[in-house]
Parts: sequence; structure tokens; C-alpha cells
Amino acid sequence: MVSNRLVAALAAAAVICVPMARAYAEADAESLVNALNAVFGKHPGVRAAHTHGICVKGNFVPSAEAPSLTKAPHFNSKTPVGVIGRFSMGGGDPDAPNGQKDNVRGIAMHFDLGKGNNTDLLMISAPVFVAKDPDQFLKLLTTVATKDKDKIGAYFKDNPNSTRQGEWLNARPVPASYGTVNYWGIHAFTFTNADGKKQIFKYKALPVGGEVGISDDEAKKKDPDFYRPELKDRLAKGPVQYTLTAILGEDGDPLDDPTAFWPEDKRKSVNLGTISITDFEDAKTCDEAIFDPTNVVDGIEGPANDTIFPMRSQAYAVSFSRREAPQQ
Ligand code: HEM
Repeated sequence: MVSNRLVAALAAAAVICVPMARAYAEADAESLVNALNAVFGKHPGVRAAHTHGICVKGNFVPSAEAPSLTKAPHFNSKTPVGVIGRFSMGGGDPDAPNGQKDNVRGIAMHFDLGKGNNTDLLMISAPVFVAKDPDQFLKLLTTVATKDKDKIGAYFKDNPNSTRQGEWLNARPVPASYGTVNYWGIHAFTFTNADGKKQIFKYKALPVGGEVGISDDEAKKKDPDFYRPELKDRLAKGPVQYTLTAILGEDGDPLDDPTAFWPEDKRKSVNLGTISITDFEDAKTCDEAIFDPTNVVDGIEGPANDTIFPMRSQAYAVSFSRREAPQQ
């Protein structure tokens, strides 16, 4: 089933039409950022995606089990690891309403490794992405940018894997808070421990207080920016915490397709530690660099054959250079 609400939301946000004559099998970082701008509008000085967000800070304390999986320093630290984080709404609308059901929430983090080094982790509030490779993502975006319902319907009919994320989100309540929803790292990473043992896994973060949602009616009545005051109230009572876990992959689990589900309930999950968000941080701290999913450290490798993964790094660099460029 096509996620009509997702289509409608994306189509409603589209402001520039991209010529459909362009061949699709040409996705590169520039064309993807242009296509995001075509769907969501060009908003100078801000991110081309996950535009509406909040910069925060906190720390990460690894679990006792984490070192058995990886030698990565933040999973072996004896002291809390500093974290700069950013919560966000998916898509490139700077005013994307916090109550939108068929949109992912994001959490991006820099883990402070000391001496000016960090490593990054980005997650979204769904276990799958909307495209299996950059060409398919470009095709999705350029089709939605046409605002042509027939073409958009035909796209989703021909590309049912692109409907999975919207269907998944629509089947669940609107998260009451950035702090009450599960987040997934989407890609299949590989850990290496101190003995050289490798383990394929996916990241998942679970809110310590459990998932809490609100009804569609409640969500409609909320201010479009209600997550900010909600977070302020929540932080006044204590840190917003998540258990970071590794879902361990098994033979046959898809490693190259971010639209493919893993049978999570049949997979072993290992506690990697606790993320604590303790306070707001100046937006500048989050904006002066990129949260880059490929910025991993010894003991963690990204997927070898998932073509979305390396393209993200390039697209984020394009988005960053444009948002940093002097505005006219
Ligand atoms: C080819 C596929 C993708 C493209 C072209 C893309 C594009 C972008 C762009 C342009 C940004 C803004 C970067 C910046 O200006 O710093 C961004 C941010 C983000 N993306 Fe993606 N993205 C892709 C796939 C994904 C996937 C699979 C995830 C799942 C984890 C994801 C999660 C995020 C998050 C959480 C942010 C916010 C980062 C922040 O707060 O700075 N993206 N994306």
C-alpha cells in the first residue's frame, strides 16, 4: 500500500519542479541535495534535510559487555564519554511540525574521543530508509517534486520498498517526545573486538522510560514546535536516557539494502551502554560541523556494499558547504 499521507506531505512541501526528462541513474551528492531542495524548498543557511532540529549535549557510559564486541574507544572508556547531539525531524522543511506522524525523528551524535577527535552515530525513528540506493532515492525525490499524483502513485507502485518506512510510521502513534521513541542506525555495521573477532550488527537506541506516543487528535492540537518546551520540562527533571544496543546480524540478513527489515525479534541484542542527554547546547555547536555516518573509528566499520552509506557522507558535505556559504 502506498503511504498516501507521506506522499501528500512530501508533495505539499514541494515548491520547485525538477524536469522529469533527466536520467535517474546518475545520482550524485549534488543531484541528491538539489532534489531535496526541489521537494522541500531552498532554505539558505540551513541543512537540506533534517532541517528542523535541536542541539543538545550529554554523555555516554559504555556497558560491561560492549568491549566483548568492539575495541572502539568510546565503548571501552572507563569514564563517561562527552556527547554533542542533535534531535531533528526528517525532511528539509525548517518548520516540519513535531506532530507529523509519517515523518522520522532523528538523533545525531558526536562522541568525544579526546584530543579534538570524535566519532559519529546517526539514527532515525524507524528501522528502514525510503530507498535502497542513491538512484532510487533520487528517483523518489524527483518524482515527488513534480507534485503529479499519477506519477507519484506510479512510483510507489513500482517501488514498494519505498513505502515501508511510511507504513511503519503510520502504524504507530506520534512520539510524545524526542525522548520517548526508539531510534535505529539503519545500516549494517561490523564491530571488531580486541581479539580481532568480527560481528555484524545494527544500532538501536531504546528510551529508558519506554516508548510513549500521543493520539492523532492530540498531535493535531500541538504547537508545531512542541518538542522544544517538552524537552525543557523533561530535562528539568533529569537526563533523557536511552539504552544503546547492537542487534546482532546472522547469516542471510541483508547487509546492503537500507529498506530491508531484519527479523529483530529473532535476533540477539546486546546492551552497549547508556546515552544521557543532559541539557540544551548552542545551535552553533551542532552547525559548525557535519554529523557524518562514515566517521567511524577503529573497531567499527561501515557496510561494504550499501551504496547509500558512502553517498550520505558526500551529500552531507554538499549540504554543509551550501549552508556555510555566504548568503546573498
Ligand atoms: C542517500 C541517502 C541520504 C541522503 C542524500 C541524505 C541527505 C541528508 C542531508 C543533506 C542532511 C543534512 C546534512 C548537513 O547539512 O549537515 C542529512 C541529515 C541527516 N540524515 Fe540523511 N540522507 C540520506 C540517508 C539517511 C539515512 C539512511 C539516515 C538514517 C540514519 C539519515 C539520517 C539523517 C540524520 C539523523 C540527519 C541529521 C543530522 C544532523 O542533525 O545534523 N539519512 N541527510
